[in-house]
Amino acid sequence: MRDKLQNIKNEALALIIAGADQAEKDRLRVHYLGKKGVLAEIAKEFPSLASDEKADVGELFNDVKQAITNALGTVQAESGGAALPSVDVTLPGVKPPLGHLHPVTKAIAEISSIFERIGFTRVRYPEVDWDWYAFESLNMPKGHPARDEWETFFVDAPDHSKLGKVVLTPHTSNGQVREMERVKATPPIRMVNIAKCYRRQSDVSHTVMFHQFEGLVIDEGINITHLKGTIDHFVKQFFGPQRKSRLRPYHFQFTEPSFEVDVTCDICNGRGCKLCKEGWLELGGAGMVHPNVLKAGKIDSAKYSGFAFGWGVERTYMMKSGIKIDDLRLLYSNDIRFLTQF
Ligand code: DAH
Repeated sequence: MRDKLQNIKNEALALIIAGADQAEKDRLRVHYLGKKGVLAEIAKEFPSLASDEKADVGELFNDVKQAITNALGTVQAESGGAALPSVDVTLPGVKPPLGHLHPVTKAIAEISSIFERIGFTRVRYPEVDWDWYAFESLNMPKGHPARDEWETFFVDAPDHSKLGKVVLTPHTSNGQVREMERVKATPPIRMVNIAKCYRRQSDVSHTVMFHQFEGLVIDEGINITHLKGTIDHFVKQFFGPQRKSRLRPYHFQFTEPSFEVDVTCDICNGRGCKLCKEGWLELGGAGMVHPNVLKAGKIDSAKYSGFAFGWGVERTYMMKSGIKIDDLRLLYSNDIRFLTQF
């Protein structure tokens, strides 16, 4: 009896789906579901079933009846007929899969809001820019060896007579003199420039395209304590209140003095472990804006001073407690299995 029911179902659905017209459907309805229809005939055999079979076959019988009714109804509704398929409106809905923002987009939003709350303005400057903004205005004249640190992509485009070649920005520091121009050389400046950067590097800890966030503050009387205070504030907000920062002397052409900023390791909390060796992880560069940079932005360095910092978004995000990404390139491989973890 089970086979019989199954065959009836297959046969009926095949006939309906094959595109029966309205008259044909009416005929099929009577044939299968009518008072003297195929299913009604079968139901007559019910009493002869063994009692343990009854429940099972009964369930199949209902299923077949429902399937044929639905198929007739749906096809009828599609072709403009009056009958609608039976819908159980009390059934729970099927949840559509929900996406979320990319982890780097989330990190950028969090970084922006931390700085915005202490008076910085989020700005954006070109990611394809002139040599002048990326290097020369930052105290790196043409041919200066310090330029080698940035493995720069040059764009095959005509040079500008004053601003030089076109580059894919290798850092967000190109925003510094652009911001000085935006405020027409009149501080105060409190900017955070977050943008894509490009360097000819690709391995587990580098991607050709990455992001940096660049802070720049210029006003009267700005000194290193303002830099240290701002960094501490960011570190505690982004990484957690237990994390500390330190400034380590370094060299950049566009700052004097210059520093590398370190943050205590989240695993050993600054005591030193296998991962960090001495308890500190490197965040990125910072320093007091070099007078030549202020001059390039037409700002009077006798009256104004400033600090700047520029750090990688991906690197900073990875240093956040609990997030370990073995290969940074995974962030941009568009593999949903990887991205859904964040
Ligand atoms: N632009 C530097 C880099 O990409 C980072 C940097 C260092 C930015 C010192 C700054 C700074 O603003 O003051 O490596």
